Amino acid sequence: MIGTANGVAISITGLGCHVPERVLSNDELATMVETSDEWIVERTGIRERRIAAPEEALSDLALPAARAALEQAGLKGAEIDLVIVATVTPDMAFPATAAILADQLGARDAGAYDLSAGCTGFMYAVAQAYGMLAGGLSQRALVVGGDVLSKIMDWSDRTTCVLFGDGAGAVVLERVGEGGFLGFELGADGSGGPQLFLPAGGSRTPASGDTIGEHLHFVKMNGREVFKFATRVLVSSAEAVLAECGRAIDEVDVYVPHQANVRIIEYARNKLGIPEDRVVVDVDRYGNTSSGSIPLALADAQAEGRLEAGTLVLMTGMGAGLTWGSGLIEWTDGGRG
Ligand SMILES: CC(C)(COP(=O)(O)OP(=O)(O)OC[C@H]1O[C@@H](n2cnc3c(N)ncnc32)[C@H](O)[C@@H]1OP(=O)(O)O)[C@@H](O)C(=O)NCCC(=O)NCCS
Repeated sequence: MIGTANGVAISITGLGCHVPERVLSNDELATMVETSDEWIVERTGIRERRIAAPEEALSDLALPAARAALEQAGLKGAEIDLVIVATVTPDMAFPATAAILADQLGARDAGAYDLSAGCTGFMYAVAQAYGMLAGGLSQRALVVGGDVLSKIMDWSDRTTCVLFGDGAGAVVLERVGEGGFLGFELGADGSGGPQLFLPAGGSRTPASGDTIGEHLHFVKMNGREVFKFATRVLVSSAEAVLAECGRAIDEVDVYVPHQANVRIIEYARNKLGIPEDRVVVDVDRYGNTSSGSIPLALADAQAEGRLEAGTLVLMTGMGAGLTWGSGLIEWTDGGRG
């Protein structure tokens, strides 16, 4: 699906993020599986990642991120009428983590639900919140992207466990006077689903306390196939949304690609022709935080003073599904319409 914003200016008016305290370095990982700092840095660009404490669940990361986003927007939780949490690691299968979060924030009248689109979850959720606001169903939406993938990692599988980390980011979406989202492109190719998946825990293979089935509760991935997919869709989705919005690549001031691997980001950046200083990269510090990756990178860009009113920001995510999604936004300075 693809489309442009038609007439209603909706933007991000608040942004926040949160990562667990514990840092897991490549050297420490090398004591757990047969790998090395050199291999991980060369193949992925990742140097360290954050890992949640045993008692920490997604809502524990989402809550501080959401509070920071609300504070930046100058809103109280009670003023939010829609909460979407994009994740593949909710606190539990149900109730939705969004409902838990809405309660914690005091967003009593909000519609609240989780959305699963792998690492593309944040882009899907933002597009959906945009549609809810543009259609008049919502006035002020909170979108969280976050994952605690460490809980579903096979820590003896070096082909996956070195890549991922935990973290969450949150944004508030509101109507503004001008600027804001220009368009979105979202897609999925379910035939690629087996390239990146969690076998058990759903209705096909229900969750089980049986330790024989334990390996089914860990992420499985065909890294090479996902690499090929990622490099292809990061380029095609970005080009599609830019063309749909009538914008040229050289107008993009800040490029925020999904933070999976520096090599994937570099490939897409070169193919798209985006100068290096316009790209946001924090995968070296956080690894791939799945749904948390794009909002964490946005928060980094904001902290570095790279997001000002009028800044054209291109975001593209891709991940399990297989899914992909892009959004183009002319950054605004909070000013509501
Ligand atoms: C996973 C990934 C980093 C592997 O990099 P790669 O250059 O494709 O490496 P390969 O899979 O070809 O493996 C090369 C060798 O390194 C080995 N290897 C794999 N993981 C390793 C690790 N952590 N440490 C050391 N060696 C490792 C492999 O076993 C292989 O050995 P072999 O040649 O003896 O068979 C890369 O494919 C990738 O980033 N894929 C995309 C993953 C992704 O982003 N997923 C999430 C999307 S949202």
